[in-house]
Amino acid sequence: MEKLRIIKYGNPILRMKARKVDKIDHRIQKLVDDMILTMQVDGGIGLAAPQVAESLALVVIDHSLIFEDGEPTAYINPVIFASEGETVLEEGCLSVPEIREEVKRPEIITLRYQNLEGEIREERVDGLLSRVLQHEIDHINGVLFIDRISALKKQLLKKELKAITEEEMMVMKEVA
Ligand code: CO
Repeated sequence: MEKLRIIKYGNPILRMKARKVDKIDHRIQKLVDDMILTMQVDGGIGLAAPQVAESLALVVIDHSLIFEDGEPTAYINPVIFASEGETVLEEGCLSVPEIREEVKRPEIITLRYQNLEGEIREERVDGLLSRVLQHEIDHINGVLFIDRISALKKQLLKKELKAITEEEMMVMKEVA
């Protein structure tokens, strides 16, 4: 397993619409393992493939931080097709370091996804898992949690976001 670099705000990959995973092969299995390691080392509860520069519809969530008997779980090609209610909760993101903001989202979602075995699952989810899934599925669509706060609040973060962008531009040059 390999710890991957998490790309940061300002990297254009975070703004791309990810493509579907059409075959769950060894490459995808390895990516899932690497993403789980990366999420655990960097202290996240969820991670989406675009955050490790792979523009694919794939997310991992650490159920061990949500449920007593949970373990890291992969969601392949997840799609939310129904939602209910509304709730406000503070969010952060490994790709937008040191910024936390309250975000309003639906409380309960119904989603469809494939597990690592390729089986199609349909689940109705609430609580923290619903919140984390919505945040991660946003990444697949090129959306970040700071897109869901008020224009005024985003304006107040302008300097911090610019600093993260500049740092990411430098790292991108070094990596290239
Ligand atoms: Co995030």
